Amino acid sequence: MKHYANLSLGRLAMPALLSIALAACGGGEQGESSSASISSSSVAEVSSSVSSESSVASSESSIAESSSSESSSVASSTPAPANEDPIGYDASDPSYGGNGIASGLPFPFGIAVPDNRDAGNYLLSSADRQSAVTNDFSQITFENAMKMNYEVEKAQPILDWASQNGIGVHGHALIWHPSYQLPSWAMNPSDSQFQENFRQHIRDRISVFQGRVTSWDVVNEAIGDVNDDAEAGVAPDGYRDSVFYQAWNGPGYIEEAFRIARETDPDVLLYYNDFNTEENLEKTDTLVEMITDFVERGVPIDGVGFQMHVLPDWADIKDIRESLQRIVNISPDLLIKITELDVRLSNPYAAEPSIVNCNPECPDALLAQKQRYQEIIQAYLDIVPPRQRGGITIWGITDNDSWFYDQDGYYDYPLLFDSAVQPKPAYDGVKEILSTIQ
Ligand code: XIL
Repeated sequence: MKHYANLSLGRLAMPALLSIALAACGGGEQGESSSASISSSSVAEVSSSVSSESSVASSESSIAESSSSESSSVASSTPAPANEDPIGYDASDPSYGGNGIASGLPFPFGIAVPDNRDAGNYLLSSADRQSAVTNDFSQITFENAMKMNYEVEKAQPILDWASQNGIGVHGHALIWHPSYQLPSWAMNPSDSQFQENFRQHIRDRISVFQGRVTSWDVVNEAIGDVNDDAEAGVAPDGYRDSVFYQAWNGPGYIEEAFRIARETDPDVLLYYNDFNTEENLEKTDTLVEMITDFVERGVPIDGVGFQMHVLPDWADIKDIRESLQRIVNISPDLLIKITELDVRLSNPYAAEPSIVNCNPECPDALLAQKQRYQEIIQAYLDIVPPRQRGGITIWGITDNDSWFYDQDGYYDYPLLFDSAVQPKPAYDGVKEILSTIQ
């Protein structure tokens, strides 16, 4: 089984020599290739992927078809670091929390929720997390439970909770390539039934969740990434050489997915979602080409999602702004959504690595994180005109819920709430920026 942690690592470049060295000592399974031209890189994540595999593997085992045990995630299985709570602010300050960041906001303000019902951090087992969501957010994304190989029933309790609390749902994701999240029908691209099963999967999922989900990531991560070839490299045309690409012998499946989605539900909003597209390199070029072509030919697409898993000093804010602008320019009818925002404190991949030690405290890093959240949201508000704003979603509730929390040797704290579900300076920063448009 491959683990997403490996893939994710490739999300940022690593220096060529280090990449080769890692491959030589067994890190090659991740298949990262190098790209010296990218400013930050991902060595530590590569190594961290090894140690985090067990938690990833166990949470991935919740994948319905085959698994027996959904054991769990950081909250229950990861030993707490010495400084569980990032320090540097007064969490008892009554001005934190409870004032409704999303209230009055003219676009969804979302958050990914822990959806593994056997894990200690499961949304419906954590009153604090539920309050965090209901206080400030208007939309949720299931962190895993709507992915391709999950049984649809797994999403039901949280869906019910969301509708009881007046919270919308962004569907994630209909088509996504990682092998550990593929249903069995999708393992073999030369299977004669592959294309029909693919179509049926989209029809089934959209129908089951119709009326409960306002928007879908129809296709996730279909553009190739030179730093993420663990399971599917980059085809000569720039697309990811995934099982879907192979089954269609090209990227035609993307368009087909959108057409089937629209045919099945004319009302739900349809997004294409990807990562590292804020970097404004080749991947962004391919994205711009693809979306422009879709819009010109009337392929039914409503929006583009930028995942936005960023580091303190990567991607460059200038590139983030330019990338958003390029998509905005394609059509005034296209929505742009930040779908998975998180901001790590450390950057172990930079020329001069920075590993932030939050023990006993790290106020400067927390302040830098707050400013980074603010500059990204500010970029979104400056560049995306009001009618094109599909919303902003934060990728997780608490720091120890985050897929970037346990970094093998250190911890990172990428989110708005600490591990005790207390708001951090970044929370304040986001609230401050978003309040400017209410
Ligand atoms: C991640 C989840 O956060 C993890 O719990 C899981 O182990 C792997 O997937 N891009 C996406 C998301 O589109 O689905 C990924 O979520 C993070 C990267």
